Amino acid sequence: MVKREDIFVSTKIWPTLYENETAVDMTLKRLGLCYVDLLFIHQPAGNFTAGYKLIEKAYRDGKTRSLGISNMHDEKLEKLLAAAEIKPHVIQLETHPYCTEQEIMGRLAEYGTKLMGWYPLGHGDSGLIKEEVFSRLADKYHKSNAQIVLRWHTQMGFMTIPGSKNPDHIRDNINIFDFTLTDEEMAEIAKLDGTKKYYTADNAAEEKYAAMHLPFEA
Ligand SMILES: NC(=O)c1ccc[n+]([C@@H]2O[C@H](COP(=O)([O-])OP(=O)(O)OC[C@H]3O[C@@H](n4cnc5c(N)ncnc54)[C@H](OP(=O)(O)O)[C@@H]3O)[C@@H](O)[C@H]2O)c1
Repeated sequence: MVKREDIFVSTKIWPTLYENETAVDMTLKRLGLCYVDLLFIHQPAGNFTAGYKLIEKAYRDGKTRSLGISNMHDEKLEKLLAAAEIKPHVIQLETHPYCTEQEIMGRLAEYGTKLMGWYPLGHGDSGLIKEEVFSRLADKYHKSNAQIVLRWHTQMGFMTIPGSKNPDHIRDNINIFDFTLTDEEMAEIAKLDGTKKYYTADNAAEEKYAAMHLPFEA
């Protein structure tokens, strides 16, 4: 049997629930848990400062051990930080060798906020995974190209959350702690930074999220 303290559970509050004072309790009830380890507000949409107040209260009440935000940048990030009494412990942003969001992380450095990178494998983009540098390092370390990319994430200090429906890939994705990329190899991979982003948030998409009620709300 898996003990609760041996697993890390993270979840998110959706924008239509940001002003609903029962949202966190409903989430915990659906999960069958007394607390989660990390609780996010999902998007900088709708009344996201009210959503952050909800999760701050959950933190004070022992219902989450840490607080997260997702896809916040520019004015919305500043608005969130100004309203936050407890600064976010984690920010989730699109992060991979083409995009490391150093500017936002520089802004958050004073709070010690950690980066959790989504799309760590470029959502499976073979153009990213098959970059020549990853193929060369995969040969050198007897690993797959994806393992080289994920090892790079951990050496960058990022929390990484690769998605996979393939049991072999899931096993491979944790098997990255028996080798270390050299500083020169990390510097070579850094040359890819800033060359591509798969998703750019816009106000229209965020307004859509703010109005999108989820089935379990009914
Ligand atoms: N905050 C946000 O706005 C946001 C947005 C998007 C995503 N996310 C989160 O980010 C996480 C990752 O997203 P994602 O799954 O879309 O992108 P991803 O992890 O970058 O890529 C997943 C793709 O990579 C493939 N893959 C995984 N491991 C592999 C391996 N070892 N070798 C080769 N291919 C491999 C998967 O295929 P197989 O299934 O065949 O392994 C799948 O096609 C998810 O938890 C998602 O919910 C958050």
